[in-house]
Amino acid sequence: MRSRTRGTAHHMFGGRNRSYRPRVPKSCDACGVEIRHRADADLPELIGLAKGVHQLDDYPTYLPNGDLRAFLISHDQIMSWVAEDDGLIVGHVALHRHSSRPVMELASTSLDLPEDGLGVIARLLVAPMSRRTGVGRHLLDAASTEARELGLWPVLDVLTRYEGANAFYDRCGWTRVGDVMVTLRDDTRFEEAVYVAPDLHRGG
Ligand SMILES: CC(C)(COP(=O)(O)OP(=O)(O)OC[C@H]1O[C@@H](n2cnc3c(N)ncnc32)[C@H](O)[C@@H]1OP(=O)(O)O)[C@@H](O)C(=O)NCCC(=O)NCCS
Repeated sequence: MRSRTRGTAHHMFGGRNRSYRPRVPKSCDACGVEIRHRADADLPELIGLAKGVHQLDDYPTYLPNGDLRAFLISHDQIMSWVAEDDGLIVGHVALHRHSSRPVMELASTSLDLPEDGLGVIARLLVAPMSRRTGVGRHLLDAASTEARELGLWPVLDVLTRYEGANAFYDRCGWTRVGDVMVTLRDDTRFEEAVYVAPDLHRGG
């Protein structure tokens, strides 16, 4: 990844963000769910879903005050989506500007892009009953497509101990460019894997 001429993701994706408009909701033919933008009215149901995932998967592992609303709604968020199946919310993903410093630095170095050329996929979760049906992949695709439309290279970070999630990103064709230690203000430490999206121009 380092051999690429330094530039902006904007150039690499053809500068389509000049006429950027949010993408319309779309249905996922494979899994039968609709991927659409998150609305404020979704939050109570979504928080219930996130609570179940938190209990089952310990995701997120770091949750100050148990505040799932704050976890889902970040000031840093560019956009967010839900997956809806027959009127029920079964998944969520968001696109953020930033992640932690070590994550941004490694992704930026690996892609040879400035940090403001990166779009961070975050807050991906799927209801346990809806897993392994393609919902996660379609949410990931929705957020990645939006990032590319904005001229941002999609990247993400995931705890190394989340083996299932790491296997998922591998299966989705993302590249693990390395692992970093992240230390929070309260000295909580995590080891995280940093992934970057495939280079579509190389068919990767
Ligand atoms: C990780 C997660 C989002 C995957 O969602 P999902 O809807 O089950 O994923 P998909 O059905 O779209 O799977 C896409 C591919 O990944 C594979 N995959 C998904 N979960 C996997 C797992 N736990 N282990 C191995 N492979 C997995 C699928 O088999 C599928 O492969 P295929 O295309 O060859 O059939 C979901 O398990 C989840 O919400 N986990 C808890 C929260 C979490 O860890 N989020 C990520 C935080 S960074």
